[in-house]
Amino acid sequence: MEEFFAANRARWDELVGLHLRDTTGVYPLDELRAGGDLLCPIEASEIGDIAGKKVVHLQCHFGADTICLARRGATVTGLDFSPRAVATARALAAELGVDATFVEGNVFDAPALVGTGFDMVYVTWGALGWLPYVRRWAKAVADCLRPGGVLYLAEGHPFMFMLEEREGRFEIDYEWRTPPERPILEIAPVSYAGDGTPVANERAFGWNHPFSEIIGGLLEAGMALQYLHEHEMIPWRAFPSMVPQGRMYVQAEGQKKMPLAFSLKAVKGGPAADPRA
Ligand SMILES: C[S@@+](CC[C@H](N)C(=O)[O-])C[C@H]1O[C@@H](n2cnc3c(N)ncnc32)[C@H](O)[C@@H]1O
Repeated sequence: MEEFFAANRARWDELVGLHLRDTTGVYPLDELRAGGDLLCPIEASEIGDIAGKKVVHLQCHFGADTICLARRGATVTGLDFSPRAVATARALAAELGVDATFVEGNVFDAPALVGTGFDMVYVTWGALGWLPYVRRWAKAVADCLRPGGVLYLAEGHPFMFMLEEREGRFEIDYEWRTPPERPILEIAPVSYAGDGTPVANERAFGWNHPFSEIIGGLLEAGMALQYLHEHEMIPWRAFPSMVPQGRMYVQAEGQKKMPLAFSLKAVKGGPAADPRA
């Protein structure tokens, strides 16, 4: 996997610089600098009161959301495998006078890197698709938590990730599950955010994960599902015809609606599910 991780890390390192100059509204840094909150309405309404909680934000990118979690009163650690993302997150938190810790490393090593006993693991938007092993991810999440601690996850919907839109028509371009050793190779000359500057690291390797793997992995890791919500909005323009609605994007008028995103909360506790049952 190291070859895939290395290519993705190089791309994410490069994207950090572009995203600091974002003009798309995905990373409104002026708002963050003015004390604004960048969490999307979905997670903002679902995470609950995290004041005084010990939270780890996995795949935190350059820490914008980590800073927002800290401003809600949580003691937050962000983890990302991009050295540039972590260095930028540290600088941004220092500039804004926000107390947050940032750690560099692979999410699969999270418990060893950030420690255990967290009240919440927080994972949102564009995280799972970079991971070849979702069951191993679920185990790492559970190992970071104290008994009774929760995972909050908000992500693109597995159905949405199978599709591409061409001239207003949706086509199934990607399989619903991606074998770890055969990732989807994306050649992306620009980023989903930033200022349109072409990137040198065009290649990215990704994986689609079905609900049965995501939720099955969490159950197997000893987590109990509290809820699973599906949403008709997502924080990036997933398809060309989508239209902005506040911080989010929705399908254009007249299109048949599909699930674009999901969110779930799962609590650590109880016996781990038998994977063979
Ligand atoms: C789309 S960004 C996540 C943005 C996030 N929603 C936020 O809070 O800003 C994806 C992040 O995942 C990180 N990443 C990808 N694969 C990783 C891995 N195996 N371990 C740790 N971080 C990883 C990338 O460096 C990137 O910063």
